[in-house]
Amino acid sequence: MTRPTSGGNRWADHYTRKAKQDGYAARSVYKLEEIQARHRILRPGDRVLDLGCAPGSWLVFAARIVGPQGRVVGLDLKPVTIALPAQVCTLVADLRNSESVGEEIGADGFDVVLSDMAPSTTGNRTTDAARSFDLAMSALEVARTRLRSGGGFVCKIFQGPDAKLFEAAVRRLFPETRLFKPQSSRKASREIFVIGKGKRQEE
Ligand SMILES: C[S@@+](CC[C@H](N)C(=O)[O-])C[C@H]1O[C@@H](n2cnc3c(N)ncnc32)[C@H](O)[C@@H]1O
Repeated sequence: MTRPTSGGNRWADHYTRKAKQDGYAARSVYKLEEIQARHRILRPGDRVLDLGCAPGSWLVFAARIVGPQGRVVGLDLKPVTIALPAQVCTLVADLRNSESVGEEIGADGFDVVLSDMAPSTTGNRTTDAARSFDLAMSALEVARTRLRSGGGFVCKIFQGPDAKLFEAAVRRLFPETRLFKPQSSRKASREIFVIGKGKRQEE
């Protein structure tokens, strides 16, 4: 994929237009598409949990890869209003209320946990990075308890000193851990994806 070279708005317009043409609800789908092309995190038949799933472009992309034998469960503070394939279901919940969320997600394990969760931003880098860190750690806790051993994890976090702590925490659970900045992620954006593969069996 070639990166549009001009300023921020031209970039945003390019991916927004492309998402419309391709029938996706958000341009963020191209980040997951790049992650999938590079890291092969999703496979046919997988059970996938998508945290921070609204408006729903990752749900649709993941459903295409896992196919009718797979299952995708999405969770967000906001409802998803687009039409979804039969193998997708969604929940409206705040991931930070971990007890109620645990019941809603169900007891079944997942093969992959994705998180594109983003906090509402204040413009203050330190505050925004701290909020992003909290969300990422909540997603990692879900991966720790709900992901089968050997499973995969993808999680967005804003870069900063906390992101290093987060990466180290992911590395403790996943022997193969990588950082990935998709080309379709705005250069000026501080977001980065931490990708973990082959979850360790916990004692
Ligand atoms: C960038 S959007 C996700 C876009 C999505 N991946 C897609 O492709 O359509 C980030 C989402 O994270 C959700 N979010 C933020 N904090 C959350 C929380 N505590 N629990 C659940 N969802 C949360 C927001 O409501 C927002 O919809």
